[in-house]
Amino acid sequence: MSISISELTPGFVGEVSGIDITQPLTREQAATLEAGMDRYAVLVYHDQPFTDEQQKAFSRNFGELENTAGGNVTKAAERRLDYQMADVSNLGPDHKPLARDDRRRLFNLGNQLWHSDSSFRAIPAKFSLLSGRIVVDAGGNTEFADMRAAYDALDDRTKAEIEDLVCEHSLIYSRGSLGFTELTDEERQMFKPVRQRLVRTHPVTGRKSLYLSSHSGTIVGWPMPEARAFLRDLNEHAVQPRFTYSHKWKQYDLVMWDNRTTMHRVRRFDETKVRDMRRTTVAGDSVTVQQMAA
Ligand code: OGA
Ligand code: MN
Repeated sequence: MSISISELTPGFVGEVSGIDITQPLTREQAATLEAGMDRYAVLVYHDQPFTDEQQKAFSRNFGELENTAGGNVTKAAERRLDYQMADVSNLGPDHKPLARDDRRRLFNLGNQLWHSDSSFRAIPAKFSLLSGRIVVDAGGNTEFADMRAAYDALDDRTKAEIEDLVCEHSLIYSRGSLGFTELTDEERQMFKPVRQRLVRTHPVTGRKSLYLSSHSGTIVGWPMPEARAFLRDLNEHAVQPRFTYSHKWKQYDLVMWDNRTTMHRVRRFDETKVRDMRRTTVAGDSVTVQQMAA
């Protein structure tokens, strides 16, 4: 079986066929997919039922897995999945949808804001792989924005202005923008802001991209309201329909994206319905900028 990748959205989203991800990949197959990720930034696979262990094994073809600790308000005893799986479902450990006012659900609503996974970590994520185990038939699309194309479309003056800017990212900012502001001291400590460049250069292709995320709450050296207004403006530019793709889920789809060059968000759906989505995250290998002293 040989892998082929067809173009769903020019230069941005590819659809992969000729692969069964439950089987170990040859070195050549892994290289084909990695090159596909560098060429596109989002790859879609259909009809891929697999276990959590198989999802992890497939993901490890692209690097080490990120540990999800520190990225949520869900306590260890409330977890449905282990620490190498990000639980992006609307479910508790009893497999039932969380109650409307459940704190975990309210926190997870942050996924409806455009973001890049783990931009709140000093070393942010490389790839994310999201598996649709049980999907909903209305709403719940995941949308992606191409931050390379968004960067390319900026005027030269803006490109020069942002070239060396550094932002502070934190879950406190993304959740705060939804009015989710009640955090314990321990959570505040865990969610301490980290610094990220606003313009990133892809290590393989050399292409520049805008590194935006709902977690980004200020620009170092700028007054906060001015930083927020500017970031909002850049965001508005970056998520224009011409830069985006909307994925309507079918059961057992797997979607894989490069967090260094894209943003994504989930759209609203009826949360009394089960939506079981499980993510593995491939860790990045470096900081984007020097961090503040602890
Ligand atoms: C994610 C995420 C969106 C979704 O997995 O990182 O933001 O569709 N999920 O649930
Ligand atoms: Mn996400």
